Amino acid sequence: MTEHVIVERRGTIQVIRMNRPDKKNALTRAMYAAMAEALAAGDGDEDVRVHVFLGVPGAFSSGNDINDFMAFAEGGALGEEVIDLLVALARSQKPIVSGVDGIAVGIGTTINLHCDLTFATRRTVFRTPFVDLGLVPEAGSSLLAPAMIGRQQAFATLGLGRGLPAERAKAVGLIYEVVDEDDLEREVFAAAEEIAAKPPEALKIARDLMRGSREEVVARIKQEAELFAGRLRSAEALEAFSAFLNRKKAG
Ligand code: COA
Repeated sequence: MTEHVIVERRGTIQVIRMNRPDKKNALTRAMYAAMAEALAAGDGDEDVRVHVFLGVPGAFSSGNDINDFMAFAEGGALGEEVIDLLVALARSQKPIVSGVDGIAVGIGTTINLHCDLTFATRRTVFRTPFVDLGLVPEAGSSLLAPAMIGRQQAFATLGLGRGLPAERAKAVGLIYEVVDEDDLEREVFAAAEEIAAKPPEALKIARDLMRGSREEVVARIKQEAELFAGRLRSAEALEAFSAFLNRKKAG
C-alpha cells in the first residue's frame, strides 16, 4: 500500500483522500491500486453507504504521474492498476461525492465524471490537456463528458484542453456546486450524510436508473485505454512528456 492515499471511515462514509502534496497529487500506480481497492472494499461492505473522494488544499490531482506515463510507454500498456480504478468507478455500487480544490488535471477532472455530486472551490480549474500531450481522453470521458456537458463543451475541454473554471463547470453541468475553500469539506460531508440517511435500496435503484449501462462505460474505458496506450508510444506524446520533465532543467 502507499501513504499517498488515506482511506478512513467516518461512520457509514468511506473517505478516500489523495495525499501526495509535494507532487500536487500526481497519481502513481500504487495510488490507483489503493483507490481501486478501497472502492471495492466499500462497495462490498454493507456498513458503507457512500464514498467520498478528496485531495489536499490546492490540489485535487495533477493527473497521472508523467514519469509513470514514460514507463507505460516503454511497457506498451497502461498500468493495470489504472484500468482497475476506472472500471471500479464505472461499476461502483454506492454513491460517490467528490470535493475538489485547486488543481484538477487529467484524471483529476475525469474521476468526477463518475461521481454523483462534485463540490469545487472557486479557485478550481478543471483541465484535460490530453491532446496537447499527444494523448486521447480516458476514464470513459469521451462517452460521459458529451452526455453531461454537451458535445461542443466536451470538444473544447477534452479536444482543445481549454480550462473549465469552477463556476463555468457548474453552469455546464460538470459539477454540482461551487463553494468557498473553508466550506468545502463541510459541504461534502453534509451531502454524504444526507445520502447516508436515505433508504439505501431505493437510492441504489434510483442511481442505477440514472447512470444507465455500466458495461457501455466499461467498454469505452477499455477502448480508450488501447488507443491511449498506442498514443503513449507516439513521438507527439514522448516529446510532450520530455518537455514537462525537463522544464525545470531548461528554466
Ligand atoms: N506527474 C509528475 N510530476 C508532477 C505532475 C505530474 N502529472 N504534476 C506535477 N508534478 C510535480 C512537478 O514536477 C513538481 O515536482 P518537483 O517539485 O520535484 O519539481 C511538483 O509536482 C510540483 O509541481 P509544479 O509544476 O512545481 O506546481 P505548479 O503549481 O507550478 O503547477 C501543474 C501545477 C499541475 C499545473 C503542473 O505541475 C503541471 O502542468 N503538471 C502536469 C499536469 C499534466 O499534464 N498531467 C497529465 C494529465 S493527462
